[in-house]
Amino acid sequence: MDHFLYRDGALYAEDVPVAEIAAAVGTPFYVYSTATLLRHFRLFDEALEGTEHLVCYAMKAASNQAILKTLAQAGAGMDVVSQGEYLRAKAAGVPGDRIVFSGVGKTMEEVRVALSGGIRQFNVESEPEMAVINAVALELGVIAPITIRINPDVDAKTHAKIATGKSENKFGIPISRAKEVYAHAASLPGLEVVGIDCHIGSQLTDLEPFRLAYEKVAELTEVLRAEGHDIRRLDLGGGLGIPYERSNEAPPLPVEYGQLIKDTLGHLGCEIEIEPGRLIAGNAGLMVSKVIYVKSGEGRDFLIVDGAMNDLIRPAMYEAHHDIVAVDEPAPGVEQQPYDIVGPVCETGDTFAKERMMPPLAAGDLIAFRSAGAYGAVMASEYNSRPLIPEVLVHGDQFAVIRRRPDYDEMINRDTIPEWL
Ligand code: LLP
Repeated sequence: MDHFLYRDGALYAEDVPVAEIAAAVGTPFYVYSTATLLRHFRLFDEALEGTEHLVCYAMKAASNQAILKTLAQAGAGMDVVSQGEYLRAKAAGVPGDRIVFSGVGKTMEEVRVALSGGIRQFNVESEPEMAVINAVALELGVIAPITIRINPDVDAKTHAKIATGKSENKFGIPISRAKEVYAHAASLPGLEVVGIDCHIGSQLTDLEPFRLAYEKVAELTEVLRAEGHDIRRLDLGGGLGIPYERSNEAPPLPVEYGQLIKDTLGHLGCEIEIEPGRLIAGNAGLMVSKVIYVKSGEGRDFLIVDGAMNDLIRPAMYEAHHDIVAVDEPAPGVEQQPYDIVGPVCETGDTFAKERMMPPLAAGDLIAFRSAGAYGAVMASEYNSRPLIPEVLVHGDQFAVIRRRPDYDEMINRDTIPEWL
């Protein structure tokens, strides 16, 4: 459920007409709903009620300071994967003991920044990385809390580019080597092993792969405890999928996911961490765009819109489906027609949808890409020298620009000319 609904013939973001925001900030832009962000965070929080837990929002999904602050004030922790994300979390007021640091290639500098600023734990992905964290901890005279990310060799049954839990993926250490790697970690004086980490992929629409992975985590917990490791925290990653195509998708609910966690791991008495990103932010955001031209092609009509693949890359990169709706509600019974919906970028890949049934649209009409809150703005680029588009946050009947649109000079003047030119 989200808070982008038609009211009196117009699409609203909570209590603000989307067209009003478009008039104020121009198109294209991203708009997020505070109520939806908070609702989704709370669904996870409530799903784990009765178990000691922390929901660490995977901010790679959407990392605007205003979004982070909204979630942090509601009690969220953060999952970060770079120095930039760590500093964003701190800047949004998240205390270090609510930040977990994931990622396959943490540099020495990143480890130093996080250890100095405070960190809940590093999710370690390899032995060389473990050695670096140990060395930095000793240099700073602190102990680094760590989990080790195990790769359970489970097929997440999602798009190949976002599956991470198979042995051929670059993530984690093979579960078959866990005993050995944990023993090594325990021998390093700068580290304190606190638990196990596992993340098998993103946009999972079936609970079964989670079940398989978590059963392996449960088994490993017992094995490692028997070896003398104090496994008291389990980080279960993110990955629960969202309905991108509302007419025919109904992925499992957070409450069902929470129940699965309790069923597979509850008996161990561990503190549970989860790292959802997409489910919190995805349906909390739209990308709003304007039709520039309607072009009649051979056997098809193109809607050429002012948003493009550089603004929302998911369709081009993952063949992802986004529901697209007209901002003016179509009159009841209006006959829909197929359009290819494309951006202005000079690549055929700049296609959002093919033969998408839409009400008749004309130049100047606004459309909204649904489910664009996660992996939308954060993956945008300035390809074709198109400045990054603004982000807007709605809260009830208020809205605020939370990242403004840069002007062209700003974009161009970031370049510098060498003196020989
Ligand atoms: N934890 C770790 C270690 C991750 O690698 C990820 C996502 C998450 C948590 C959050 O997963 P989520 O709950 O959002 O599924 N750009 C792609 C998605 C990449 C996901 C990468 N890792 C997309 O647009 O579909």
